[in-house]
Amino acid sequence: MLKSLRAPFFATVLATTCAAQTPDATLTIQLDKPLHDVSPKLYGLMTEEINYSYDGGIYAEMVRNRTFQDRGSSGTAHWDLVGIGNADATMTVDTTVGPSEALSRSLRLDIAHADQTNQAGARNEGFWGMAVRPNTTYKASFYAKADSSEVGPVTVTLENDNSGSTIATGTSAPLSTEWKRYEVTITAGKVEASVENHLRLTVAHPGKVWLSLVSLFPPTYKNRANGNRTDIMEMLAAMHPKFLRLPGGNYLEGDTIEERFDWKATIGPLVDRPTHRSPWNYQSSDGLGLLEFLEWTEDLKIEPVLAVYAGYSLKGARVPPGPGLASYVDDALDEIEFVTGDATNTKWGAIRAKLGHPAPFPLQYVEIGNEDFFDRSGSYEGRFAQFYKAIKTKYPQLQIIATEPLKKMKPDVQDDHYYKRADDFFRFVKHYDDMDRNGPKIFVGEWATREGSPTTNLGAALGDAAWMTAMERNSDLIVMSSYAPLFVNVNPGGMQWEANLIGYDAMTSYGSPSYYAQAIFAEYLGTAVPTSSLTGGSQRFFYSITRDAAKGVAYLKLVNANSTPQTVKIDLSGAAKIGATGTLVTLSGLNPAETNTISVPTRVVPVKTELKGAGSSFSHTMPPFAIQVLQISMK
Ligand code: AHR
Repeated sequence: MLKSLRAPFFATVLATTCAAQTPDATLTIQLDKPLHDVSPKLYGLMTEEINYSYDGGIYAEMVRNRTFQDRGSSGTAHWDLVGIGNADATMTVDTTVGPSEALSRSLRLDIAHADQTNQAGARNEGFWGMAVRPNTTYKASFYAKADSSEVGPVTVTLENDNSGSTIATGTSAPLSTEWKRYEVTITAGKVEASVENHLRLTVAHPGKVWLSLVSLFPPTYKNRANGNRTDIMEMLAAMHPKFLRLPGGNYLEGDTIEERFDWKATIGPLVDRPTHRSPWNYQSSDGLGLLEFLEWTEDLKIEPVLAVYAGYSLKGARVPPGPGLASYVDDALDEIEFVTGDATNTKWGAIRAKLGHPAPFPLQYVEIGNEDFFDRSGSYEGRFAQFYKAIKTKYPQLQIIATEPLKKMKPDVQDDHYYKRADDFFRFVKHYDDMDRNGPKIFVGEWATREGSPTTNLGAALGDAAWMTAMERNSDLIVMSSYAPLFVNVNPGGMQWEANLIGYDAMTSYGSPSYYAQAIFAEYLGTAVPTSSLTGGSQRFFYSITRDAAKGVAYLKLVNANSTPQTVKIDLSGAAKIGATGTLVTLSGLNPAETNTISVPTRVVPVKTELKGAGSSFSHTMPPFAIQVLQISMK
């Protein structure tokens, strides 16, 4: 998302230029003297079910509480009874009957009176509404049974909340007295796009009807069945990520062992997925299960970083190392086999193939647990060792990530997490500069500048950008990084964690200034870090230089977190030629509190202009509160 520079922006820059107090900086760069390579996987994504990230987020399902397991109103939360005209019915959750062993409950409608014009049934309000777009086809499906074959078909209707007008409608096959799955395709015509809609399922005959797994999908990204929202996937693609860390975060661990991400309960037909409670206090449909995560990585052409449950849950339950942990280790081995195993020669590879994906997925990194420093018993070292040994024996090529520093052994990679304010990040940027390079590699698996809510503001983006310059400079040690949390549904009650990267409602999504900072840092990333030094400049001025010899280009990233402009003299040596012109990308604003919102989504976005006057020695003045990338030609 690029836009043209605004007049007030220029006015402010000029005004503050005259009052500039920030000391000039001098940056000396030797392009022909690389210090080290840039990790090719430096920027990735981290995800978990928090802030309605999956249900009500990237997972395109439009029906909320589709299996009647949400707490609240004894399971009927987000559902209401429909009685048209003089229809007469009641609705309750029946905990004794369901379409499968996994889904052992359903919505029961007792219909005393209904006919063709006086239909009875239930309606679902969606995740803060249902997004309807003109000329769009929606796929509805549900499991149902009736007490008599006379009940007939179910009419499925997308209806506008306010006018009650029908947006799209269709009718199922007549209901059977046995549980069956029904599909109805409905198409919206020339309607206005809106979220103020609901889904209605009605019948035209008295009787008893049981419903479960009621679903409605719009078109999805790359037309995946049971897939993801197109707008949000496109936003992720624009971040140029290299991996997806999944499935958490706290979501991996669960509050209790029973509520962990039990991957085997998240694969296969949706009707066989029991769903589970997320530690962020709502029920997860598990519609986005392990295979859907992997397909998400496939669609973005990135790799999974697979976090496996390691015997510790958030409320303190732990499985000590030893025989009791063996079944969890076996689960992790099975999980790795499900991801990478051959479709014909391995049990879990064959199951994956049966579920529709014969080709194995690439996998390089496996993380053992999440934030196990919270396990005060100190059992992690032993738990890690047990997983490490078993995984390395079977999969020596895999890199194993530990979630806290270990005393007795050296993991391949250590996952460090940082949630800070911008000023803390400004002071923290040298943290890895002098760190021992003989220890484990570092994965900064969760990090964020936490300023702004529900999504972060420009001040946070400046903190993030400062931190990213540090990660690029240390990318011989820091092999990967991923911001968290990635998503938030901005509707009331949608957020459990303040300060997130991408916000959305049922219809649209937007990026915070931090989102754009990350997108440009990842897009303009070279392959090596040349030798450089900085003198002068303010304490809130940061830089990163990388170069890509094959492309003949250098990327100079500058961060001015001051309220005044920053002038920097740039001396470049070691290139055959330095182009006089290049590309300048600027992300800036008038105030650190400036931000994007669901209603003003593009107030702070990158602006691409021509870089003029570059050369082996040139002066460049940055606006206040700005992040810039100077793309400089080396040929
Ligand atoms: O990103 C939010 C939470 O922060 C993650 O679930 C957890 O790993 C960390 O404490």
